[in-house]
Amino acid sequence: MTKTDSRVLRAELLSFDADPGEGDTPAEGSVRHLEDGALWLENGRIRAIGDYATLAPDLPPGIDIIDHRGKLLVPGFIDSHVHYVQLEIMASYGRQLLDWLNDYTFPEECRFAEREHAERLSEAFLDELLRVGTTTAQVFCSSHPASVDAFFAASHRRGLCMLAGKVLMDRHAPAGLTDDTEGGIRDTERLIGDWHGKGRLGYSLTPRFAPTSTRAQLDATGGLLRNDPGLWLQTHLAENTGELDWVAELFPGSRDYLEVYEQSGLVGPRSTFAHGIHLDQEMRGRLAERGANLAFCPSSNMFLGSGLFDRLAARDMRLNITYASDVGGGTDLSGLATLKAAYQVGQLRGQPLTAWQGLYGLTLGNARALSLDHRIGRLAPGMEADFVVLDPDATPLLARRHARCRTLGERLFAFMMLGDDRSVLETWAGGRCRHRRQG
Ligand code: GUN
Ligand code: ZN
Repeated sequence: MTKTDSRVLRAELLSFDADPGEGDTPAEGSVRHLEDGALWLENGRIRAIGDYATLAPDLPPGIDIIDHRGKLLVPGFIDSHVHYVQLEIMASYGRQLLDWLNDYTFPEECRFAEREHAERLSEAFLDELLRVGTTTAQVFCSSHPASVDAFFAASHRRGLCMLAGKVLMDRHAPAGLTDDTEGGIRDTERLIGDWHGKGRLGYSLTPRFAPTSTRAQLDATGGLLRNDPGLWLQTHLAENTGELDWVAELFPGSRDYLEVYEQSGLVGPRSTFAHGIHLDQEMRGRLAERGANLAFCPSSNMFLGSGLFDRLAARDMRLNITYASDVGGGTDLSGLATLKAAYQVGQLRGQPLTAWQGLYGLTLGNARALSLDHRIGRLAPGMEADFVVLDPDATPLLARRHARCRTLGERLFAFMMLGDDRSVLETWAGGRCRHRRQG
């Protein structure tokens, strides 16, 4: 008989059961908050959650109880769009998208032809994700299959729930990154066979964006998705005006950028389109109709000068919005920092983001949009045990600010605006502590 791996965390617990809405107070029944809660873990999953006083009599004698009173425990953060291969070119100065790709990004991604480099960067990237409380991400690797093998292997060893894929590009990129059309698809099929559904991993088809794929490559990618609707798909859409002009030139047979993807069968409920800044309501409606997702990447949009995402226009069309760092275009891997940037973009548009909506988005909202909400995103019995322990006293300033907060909403907002890796005391995935802050 295998031994049961079981423990309890005692802490303040917060989790969402539904979208809290846009109001200053969350919609009725959307939030679960326990001031002195107990989270009972068993074999990598949540066995039970409740008030400590209520649950305590049911606990087996001698069970390990970790006392985190004074800390706030929330579901693990999810990053719906990030490039692990761009970790070391974060903060490269002074370019907008197309020049930034040519000057910094493509040369950097060429380095991932070397397996050892991909392995080192996979480990470094996962260390950084866990340091900021991110337990799941949808990840662009490079065009090299070895970059995907390295990333999935490292994620698997750590027991993480990760989606990732090999970038598909068969034109307009350096020779070291360009596929031949059929070869790229064959490599993708091999990677799907090796990794999709292994442990907690899933494969996300990854055509980079319309300008770097021929129609033949986009069609072949659509074919893979049709054959296995359990796959995910990630790409970029309408991020930058120069990109829009280029797409119009390259695909004269499509009436707009989105139609390029529609014509190849790439727009569905498991598809995530990063950015979607320069869209009209009709296009947002078409995305919503198919259940597709946008990834709002606010720190990237500000860093690359791409534009101000219109969150409420997307919500008006009932289009799913996810939150993402988009590192290396983004300036911060932290989910809390992403929410801070989203709040700032929102302020410039007259649509500030509440902490309720932000934290919902980073957890259950992202999990739902990525069709992972039966596994992650909530603190509830049966869910995989991925969560973050936040420390309100992480820094003297945060402690001062928290001491002045009167409501839970104010405290969450203080985390969102002042929090960073220091606020993350511990990050747990699959029922194991995978990161503990030093000091
Ligand atoms: N569009 C195509 N490739 C990329 C990329 O790597 N980053 C961003 N932000 N946009 C892109
Ligand atoms: Zn991106």
